[in-house]
Amino acid sequence: MNSITERNRTEDGLVAAKPAYSRKRPFWAKLTRHERLTKPGSGKDTRHLVLELEGSGFTYTPGDSLGAYGSNAPAVVDELIRLLGLDPEWPLTDSEGDITTLRNTLLRDYTVNRANRKILNGLAERLPQGAQRDQLMDILGNTDRVREYIETRDYVDVLREFDQAKFETAEAFLAQLTPAAPRLYSIASALEAHPGEAHLCVTVVRYTSHGRPKKGFASGFLADHADLFVQAVPVYVQESRSFRLPHDLARDIIMVGPGTGFAPFRAFIEQRALAGATGRNWLFFGEQHRATDFLYEEELLSWKPKGVLNRLDLAFSRDQPEKIYVQHRMLEQAKELWKWIVNGANFYVCGDAHNMAKGVHDALIRIAAEQGGLSPEAAAEFVNVTLMRTDKRYLRDVY
Ligand SMILES: Cc1cc2nc3c(=O)[nH]c(=O)nc-3n(C[C@H](O)[C@H](O)[C@H](O)COP(=O)(O)OP(=O)(O)OC[C@H]3O[C@@H](n4cnc5c(N)ncnc54)[C@H](O)[C@@H]3O)c2cc1C
Ligand SMILES: NC(=O)c1ccc[n+]([C@@H]2O[C@H](COP(=O)([O-])OP(=O)(O)OC[C@H]3O[C@@H](n4cnc5c(N)ncnc54)[C@H](OP(=O)(O)O)[C@@H]3O)[C@@H](O)[C@H]2O)c1
Repeated sequence: MNSITERNRTEDGLVAAKPAYSRKRPFWAKLTRHERLTKPGSGKDTRHLVLELEGSGFTYTPGDSLGAYGSNAPAVVDELIRLLGLDPEWPLTDSEGDITTLRNTLLRDYTVNRANRKILNGLAERLPQGAQRDQLMDILGNTDRVREYIETRDYVDVLREFDQAKFETAEAFLAQLTPAAPRLYSIASALEAHPGEAHLCVTVVRYTSHGRPKKGFASGFLADHADLFVQAVPVYVQESRSFRLPHDLARDIIMVGPGTGFAPFRAFIEQRALAGATGRNWLFFGEQHRATDFLYEEELLSWKPKGVLNRLDLAFSRDQPEKIYVQHRMLEQAKELWKWIVNGANFYVCGDAHNMAKGVHDALIRIAAEQGGLSPEAAAEFVNVTLMRTDKRYLRDVY
């Protein structure tokens, strides 16, 4: 890659440094460490990855994410090209105007692991009259069936099912596809603690549908296809607008981060330790089983005796007959948690947006009501308005 930064002359004549790399022009980072955090027997595959940012000009602050482009599985791309009956070396021009091939284009530039609506229309135009066409027209006639159909199928599934349709050219097939988009990962390191690096904690998306194993575009690539010590992962830094540590080093912080939601809190804790923060740090962490899914166990447990982490509450959801989640631990510690909040602590939540964040939100309102002696309405107002909007002490990074 070229220069580290582009120099821009501003209106007042000053020279400002602007990162040369961005979402549109990602930096090709080297993966320098790759470890499995979940142990054999786990239902999950979660990895600790270290990417080298040396030469990118990137800086980041705890709370920021790294945008990463993935790559489709080579075996899937090869099967797709075989089904299309096209030459893998079919010459194409990429967005930079460089000559490339159909295979390379399908590997990097398009979503291949999930079909879209457009392909169904493209196939319908190319299918001869007969049973396959009738079946496809049936699906296309019902919006819900289209959604259900494409939700679990990739292009290999679709082309196998409607194998009488033929795309004449690579361009005609590519015109049906959706361009690949980068994925965001919370940066799990403080830059000052790991100069020139960004650490990530990634749960790999793997599932089987229609008899074939499938994987995520970015997480599957990072786990299975990104070689170590090769500049192979296109990345950029995505700044967070609000998910930030307090400037006041004496302020307490409460962090709720089950699963990969722990990632930014690793950065928070490292940063607070380096800055010599006097405010206390309290972490709620959870995963399925303690024996196999306690991410960063050694490091986390070492932080308490060092005084880097003042309180650690753990919720292993599947180690007993009834589910225990982070919000259950919050409720058990309601009195103390309320004291911290009244004392001015910031409250952070990171991870699953669909279920966990709501459970934690409801628990916080219940704690405000029960411990603060507020009516349910006043407790909700305190959490939603005072903590979240006025004080900006309740901050979420959920996905
Ligand atoms: C701000 C932010 C921070 C994030 N931080 C992290 C982080 O630190 N760590 C982390 O791991 N992730 C994080 N994520 C999520 C991450 O960005 C990706 O969404 C995730 O890794 C999946 O991307 P992928 O490309 O691997 O999978 P994709 O190719 O996007 O595949 C995922 C899709 O596969 C399909 N799918 C999944 N399971 C099944 C199934 N069983 N059956 C059928 N279809 C299925 C679904 O359509 C799903 O949307 C974050 C997201 C945001 C927005
Ligand atoms: N877009 C994608 O395809 C994609 C891919 C990967 C991750 N993600 C997102 O990232 C999130 C984090 O994934 P992860 O694997 O790190 O962890 P996770 O799925 O959030 O699981 C972490 C812990 O949270 C528990 N949990 C489940 N439901 C909960 C609830 N309602 N309230 C509180 N805790 C609950 C889980 O318990 P049980 O499992 O025992 O119920 C588990 O112990 C996912 O949930 C998902 O939203 C998205």
